[in-house]
Amino acid sequence: MTKDGVGRQAKCGRLLACFEMDGSSGNQEKYGARLGTSDEGCREVRERKDCRESIGEREDKDFLDVLLEYEGNEKEEPDKISTRNILVTILEVFLGGSGTSGITIEWALAELLRHPKSMRTVNDEINRVVGSSKKVEERDNEELLYPQALIKETVRLHPVNPLLLPRNTLEDGHFVRYRIPKDAQVLVNAWAIGRDPDT
Ligand code: HEM
Repeated sequence: MTKDGVGRQAKCGRLLACFEMDGSSGNQEKYGARLGTSDEGCREVRERKDCRESIGEREDKDFLDVLLEYEGNEKEEPDKISTRNILVTILEVFLGGSGTSGITIEWALAELLRHPKSMRTVNDEINRVVGSSKKVEERDNEELLYPQALIKETVRLHPVNPLLLPRNTLEDGHFVRYRIPKDAQVLVNAWAIGRDPDT
């Protein structure tokens, strides 16, 4: 990793540190209350803005750069995303992406322990594509077809949010032979869909 890359990783850690993400889910309300008022978070965003103004666009953009570059569609969208909304978005991505990915990997490993033949196939493919002494990198993903299939199969069998997020209907409608009234709360059973041979 470049010297600059190391610096960026450390900065990302500092940005997350201001949310005090210590892994305890009971802290979510506290994160919410701190959002937009976190001096540390605002300072990180300001420093990145200053850095972009002084040295211009960089090749190794990260998520924060993309959010800062946003310019809206010159119609109904705002020109810029506010610092508070940038912090909320970053927090949402980390909260949404950490537990879900961790739990899915645990399920994938549990399934591999139950299916030693699949475990051997995964190991062989990783050794062939990456080698046994290097770490897997994002660009290796294209060739890691069996591990990709493993994750998809894991998500099918063990969806982290089996009923997805609840939806509210905006108007009366029909689905198959059911009448769904306006303002009904609808849950989609992704767990059942994943086990139904017809879907
Ligand atoms: C195996 C891993 C993951 C699973 C099973 C998963 C599952 C889900 C589900 C079921 C939803 C709700 C979808 C809906 O009902 O509309 C969702 C939303 C979301 N996920 Fe994931 N997710 C995973 C990984 C990630 C990662 C890695 C990120 C971020 C890097 C992420 C960020 C989000 C965000 C921001 C939303 C809200 C989207 C919105 O409000 O439109 N998720 N995820």
